[in-house]
Amino acid sequence: MASVLVASNRGPVSYAVGEDGTLDARRGGGGLVSGLSAVSSEDSVWVCAALGDGDREAVRRGIGEPGVRMLDIDPDVHADAYNGIANSVLWFVHHMLYQTPLEPVFDAEFRRRWAAYETYNRAFARALADEADDGACVLVQDYHLALVPGMLRELRPDLRIGHFSHTPWAPPEYFRMLPDDIARQLLRGMLGADRLGFLTRRWADAFAACCAAEVGGTGDTRLGVYGLGADADFLRERSRRPDVEERLAALREQVGPGRRVILRVDRTELSKNIVRGMHAYRTLLEEHPEWHGRVVHVAFAYPSRQDLAVYREYTEEVGRVAAVVNARYGTDDWTPVVLHVKDDFARSLAAYRLADVALVNPIRDGMNLVAKEVPVVSDEGCALVLSREAGAHEELGEDAITVNPYDVTGTAHALHEALTMGGPERAERTKRLAAAATALPPQQWFLTQLEALRA
Ligand code: F6P
Repeated sequence: MASVLVASNRGPVSYAVGEDGTLDARRGGGGLVSGLSAVSSEDSVWVCAALGDGDREAVRRGIGEPGVRMLDIDPDVHADAYNGIANSVLWFVHHMLYQTPLEPVFDAEFRRRWAAYETYNRAFARALADEADDGACVLVQDYHLALVPGMLRELRPDLRIGHFSHTPWAPPEYFRMLPDDIARQLLRGMLGADRLGFLTRRWADAFAACCAAEVGGTGDTRLGVYGLGADADFLRERSRRPDVEERLAALREQVGPGRRVILRVDRTELSKNIVRGMHAYRTLLEEHPEWHGRVVHVAFAYPSRQDLAVYREYTEEVGRVAAVVNARYGTDDWTPVVLHVKDDFARSLAAYRLADVALVNPIRDGMNLVAKEVPVVSDEGCALVLSREAGAHEELGEDAITVNPYDVTGTAHALHEALTMGGPERAERTKRLAAAATALPPQQWFLTQLEALRA
């Protein structure tokens, strides 16, 4: 039994079956992992889903980390809930990603998947009800588990229940695309919580506006804003280790001496706007031939959600556009776009240190931690080109160069401005960006929510 519980789809650890049948555990990073480390593992339980065959095998063999409970939900139910609803519907609504003449289609197939989403949420609610001590605090994460607060409240009225959204929230006129009964069920599910947390005021206000329009307000549920910050201590230490130094040397060689670096680091995620970023870079090279041979766009685009066709197609498009730019402008000794698609955290940190300009241009983003991490790690200062639609813009906007993510020409101009910013100004801005980016480190982010929930 635990007094602090966390629930999320993806847990802190995953398992892979080795060739000899043994299970290899891989620990993940991220804000929640370091946030929860502020609480003793004896008092806490993290409930998550088994995501792959390795995870399921670990559950069957009874292998697991202390303080982690993985739920072996039927794989078809999980796929329908995770791919079919969470990532194909709710993610699309909150990030406003639909091409509305053709999508979304709310038909019988949608209803079938929705039933799976309910089943998956109920499995979490039951497990949490099982594991929680009297009056325990439960912190449910994200759009995957939006129904859990209401379901858990029915099972265990004694608990203090919080929910945190790591995504944006849709404005009411977009949210109401969902069938009315589903929209209300979602909001009422969330409102089963005592407290709801959001990354920015803008997303909290959007949620409140949806509630006002659809269910007559937020009732007794309190809304709070907790702007998750970068973990400065961890990043500064980790980014000076030998494996990062090694990758830094390799990157320097790949870029070539004396050249500027425009960096982006993202999951290959539709909302990250990687393709328009490359078009903006191409426009920069078109309009400013003086940069030919003097700048490289280092783009790390790591695989994500490859079960969904639209993500596979987007991944291909990223590679295609990078190749077009290289074919048009590349020379024997200059590759204008260096694209890496294999996830390598140490190399990302090396690139953070090296970059002159960071391009963070999402269509819409809950926060965007890359925008916060780069200034913390940067060796000599890095100019930040930042979308006004990223949550991080609320805290970093003043010292960033702001862009409208749809405006390719405007983004190209911003890149030019960033490249020509003087060294001292860049360093000054980076210092202020780093201070703003670390205002609420993960452990404090977590503990502040916990305290608010207990109060
Ligand atoms: O930040 C939103 C989020 O959905 C997280 O919950 C999730 O871990 C991350 O994006 C990556 O997505 P996925 O878990 O689907 O790979």
